[in-house]
Amino acid sequence: MSAILPPSRRIWWKQPLDKVELTWIAIAFFWAMVLFFMMPYWHVFGKQNMSNEAYRISAENYQKKAQEMVDKYTVRTETDENIPVVHPPAGSDVYLIARLWAWWPILELENNQSYRLHLSAMDYQHGFSLQPSNINLQIVPGYEMVINITPNKSGPYAIVCNEYCGIGHHKMVSRLYVVDKK
Ligand code: CUA
Repeated sequence: MSAILPPSRRIWWKQPLDKVELTWIAIAFFWAMVLFFMMPYWHVFGKQNMSNEAYRISAENYQKKAQEMVDKYTVRTETDENIPVVHPPAGSDVYLIARLWAWWPILELENNQSYRLHLSAMDYQHGFSLQPSNINLQIVPGYEMVINITPNKSGPYAIVCNEYCGIGHHKMVSRLYVVDKK
């Protein structure tokens, strides 16, 4: 019987199950269960997917909040695009904007201090990937993601967009600094 033709018996699902078919169903079901339980397991023990809060927000309102922080706490600019480097007070809310095709601004955080990191996209979906910590979050327009972070190692970190977002996707890289308190 060809798969292109309809089965010769209309009530095909009442035919007895072949042993090979049953074996494949059992293997597929078992593997699906493994993958299913890997999700909570990886969340707790993998330490890659952080617990986040998400709120609806318009791009304009989010941009306003980020701009306020940048206006108050910019300490210098970096790169040929003069991206502001922002050093907000420890314990505060910090904002990062994802848009075609840049992260803005550059955050400078203090080691062993806690922050509420807000992330949102202005246009399309982007992927926030912090390396080498390997923290990964989906950044979706219209939503503000908030995670509580406490950096425990000083140094420069790389931010990479890991969600394909168009022709300039490969340019969507940035930095995050963690510095020891002076
Ligand atoms: Cu943003 Cu890829």
